[in-house]
Amino acid sequence: MHLKILVTAGDGIGPEVTNEAVAVLQEVAQAGGHTLSLDARRIGGVAIVADGTPLPADTLAAALDSDAVLLGAVGGNEFNSLPPDKRPEAGLLGLRSALGGFANLRPAFALKGLSGNSPLRPEIIDGADILFVRELLGGLYFGQPREWNRSAGEAWNTMRYTKNEVARVARIAFDLARKRRKKVTSVDKANVLEVSQLWRATVTEVAADFPDVSLEHQYVDAMAMHLMNRPRDFDVVVTENLFGDILSDESGVITGSLGMLPSATIGGKVNLYEPVHGSAPDIAGKGLANPLGAILTGALILRHSGGLEAEAVVIETAVRKVLEQGYRTPDLTRANSQGLPVLSTKEMGSKVRETVKQLLASNSQPLAHQ
Ligand code: NAD
Ligand code: IPM
Ligand code: MN
Repeated sequence: MHLKILVTAGDGIGPEVTNEAVAVLQEVAQAGGHTLSLDARRIGGVAIVADGTPLPADTLAAALDSDAVLLGAVGGNEFNSLPPDKRPEAGLLGLRSALGGFANLRPAFALKGLSGNSPLRPEIIDGADILFVRELLGGLYFGQPREWNRSAGEAWNTMRYTKNEVARVARIAFDLARKRRKKVTSVDKANVLEVSQLWRATVTEVAADFPDVSLEHQYVDAMAMHLMNRPRDFDVVVTENLFGDILSDESGVITGSLGMLPSATIGGKVNLYEPVHGSAPDIAGKGLANPLGAILTGALILRHSGGLEAEAVVIETAVRKVLEQGYRTPDLTRANSQGLPVLSTKEMGSKVRETVKQLLASNSQPLAHQ
């Protein structure tokens, strides 16, 4: 297997966590006789500074010419006063739109090794395993018209979906549910918004093609609460762009830190892989960032773009083992984790690589069921 990966590390902690993810990917790929060709390009704030645009043409061309794009994070406080279309985030949104992936898979899970770390009690989170399917190319992020009319003192955005945009992401959610616990929860605000009424009607129509999968609907406000009260009750959760953005960060609380969460965006020309977290300017450049979300994002590349399920599981198993051994990054420490070894970003990356090596040495069998 040969994979051509474009790395767009971006801003803030993006490069720090991406370096670790790439090193782990290389370790696993080499051991399995697979080759990765890696190219690196600028996106976001670093590209604004160097190239005058958050998405340079060469980055976009290289992305479209790759098998997978691994993105770190974009954004920085120095760009906060720019209008949305000039900001680092516009580079990411432009890349998402050009690659065409509309289904952003964001797993949120409880890990045994971290059960004391979540602010939620272990008896609430143990066994929680949710897959968010966030629609990524519609809704308020892309809907027209949008404007801040300063002289009128008025601004507007448009939450817009076509039936086809809802149906295609719903189908992905039902397909994925078939391989899991066969339950889809669709999240909307159909008690207030017409666009959510279209969403609900369309998801219900798609469900008819999946009689073996159960469907429930939840309003987004109630869902925000249910996720914290009874996260184990959810399997696949499908929702529109902004609701998915918000609920996926909230679900970092189930795992214990936003820095743990990976994502994969599928359905377009080239899949895009990015941890859920941002550029974390408050901790950037200090070696404090948790690289595990980025490392787990690397596992998703192997699974969804390489078809290398066993190799993906090696990475996921290594992350689990490292946490079960008590290793932490600062975001994974709480009063109850006193005495546990706290590692820097690089040290955590090395610990995962070391564990990957041990797993590969001790197992000639596929690791899928460990
Ligand atoms: P953020 O996700 O960057 O940070 C939120 C909080 O979580 C911060 O306290 C941060 O220190 C912590 N955190 C995040 N990732 C962590 C990690 N890996 N390890 C340890 N702690 C971590 O969100 P924010 O502060 O609201 O946004 C900062 C910038 O990032 C903004 O410009 C925003 O637009 C951008 N952003 C980019 C992406 C992306 O590129 N995919 C995603 C979200 C936010
Ligand atoms: C995310 C981020 C992005 C989003 C921003 C940076 C554009 O918050 O990936 O969750 O809102 O989609
Ligand atoms: Mn977000």
